Amino acid sequence: MHLNSLPFFLFLISGIFCQYDYDGYYAPQPDYGYAVSMFDHSTAVCAPECTCPISYPSAMYCDNLKLKSLPIIPPGIKYLYLRHNMIEGIEEKAFDNVTDLEWLILDHNHLENSKIKGRVFAKLKSLKKLHINNNNLTEAVGPLPNTLDDVQLTHNKISKINPNTFEGLVNLTVIHLQHNQLSEDTLSGVFKGLNALLYLDLSFNKITKLPLGLPPNLMMLYFDNNQISNIPDQYFQGFKDLQYLRLSHNKLTDSGIPGNAFNISTLVELDLSYNQLKSIPTVNEHLENYYLQVNQINKFPVSSFCKVVGALAYSRVRHLRLDANNLTRSDLPQEMYSCLRMAADITVE
Ligand SMILES: *[C@@H]1O[C@H](CO)[C@@H](O)[C@H](O)[C@H]1NC(C)=O
Ligand SMILES: *[C@@H]1O[C@H](CO)[C@@H](O)[C@H](O)[C@H]1NC(C)=O
Ligand SMILES: *[C@@H]1O[C@H](CO)[C@@H](O)[C@H](O)[C@H]1NC(C)=O
Ligand SMILES: *[C@@H]1O[C@H](CO)[C@@H](O)[C@H](O)[C@H]1NC(C)=O
Ligand SMILES: *[C@@H]1O[C@H](CO)[C@@H](O)[C@H](O)[C@H]1NC(C)=O
Repeated sequence: MHLNSLPFFLFLISGIFCQYDYDGYYAPQPDYGYAVSMFDHSTAVCAPECTCPISYPSAMYCDNLKLKSLPIIPPGIKYLYLRHNMIEGIEEKAFDNVTDLEWLILDHNHLENSKIKGRVFAKLKSLKKLHINNNNLTEAVGPLPNTLDDVQLTHNKISKINPNTFEGLVNLTVIHLQHNQLSEDTLSGVFKGLNALLYLDLSFNKITKLPLGLPPNLMMLYFDNNQISNIPDQYFQGFKDLQYLRLSHNKLTDSGIPGNAFNISTLVELDLSYNQLKSIPTVNEHLENYYLQVNQINKFPVSSFCKVVGALAYSRVRHLRLDANNLTRSDLPQEMYSCLRMAADITVE
């Protein structure tokens, strides 16, 4: 498998199987076998306090070393791990030896925007992954190089994003921004033109309205744990391949959801759990996983799943959660079974 396709494949799996594992995705260690044949820098030296595996000398591991600043980074390093240190800043020339760095992993440090100098990331002409999770950022970092495919800035205090931060990042596939302090004013427009973007996680922020100008090719869009009370008319119609949509732990009510808001033919999974719904929003026949637990639902109209029922007209729902609502099993209508004929489990109480 190609080195770059591996992480995407992994988070795809975690997206399917770990419904609430928001932070479960972690960058895999590089694929050693592949890397050795591809990057044969057996002459690269290592910073004395760090580790560069003999079988994989273009990776330098400097995790858990209580570092307050960056170590010496010798030429030849392509994958740099600096997790769990106390780094507060990055000097402008810090990476001048390694402008062809591909992965820069800075999770669990104390980085602050004011101490990250100049165009330190933009100079990295081959950078693909930039992870600055669990730091002290108040603003998204930038400018960024247009080679990036994966940016992760979760668990910071980010409330600002410069409108140009993501501009021109034509290969950006994954953005993780969960656990920050973002609101829709900051977000509207900043993802415009990111036609390669497939995954956008904005859970655990301060979003009260869905932002405008999201790119059309998104497959996974996560807004759990915000304060969203309504869906603008036609909001999801512009997405060509939206498959996983999560809006759990928001403030959605029946009146905030236009009739066909979630009737999206590409959707596989929809999470509307932990909201204030009294009825079941209409979904497309192709939906497979529907999470509605912990709402105030008190009726079960079959028409939410099937407009008509017939040989080929039926719902593909396999897993349906309706527990912690105002429903009992006796409220489920008999005619539901011909519509929901694929259901493997329907959890009611
Ligand atoms: C660049 O590499 C040289 C040689 O290994 C080293 O002496 C120097 O400190 C490095 N510079 C930085 C900024 O890491
Ligand atoms: C960074 O954040 C940590 C944890 O949130 C906090 O303990 C620390 O004081 C902050 N450091 C700075 C320099 O603000
Ligand atoms: C984007 O990805 C394609 C395919 O891997 C590559 O050919 C192209 O150079 C990349 N563009 C940038 C700006 O990195
Ligand atoms: C969803 O929309 C399609 C048209 O796009 C329509 O044919 C179908 O009946 C709708 N589904 C439900 C359950 O209303
Ligand atoms: C549940 O529904 C019943 C009948 O619709 C209603 O009388 C009752 O007040 C509802 N209970 C709650 C907790 O909403």
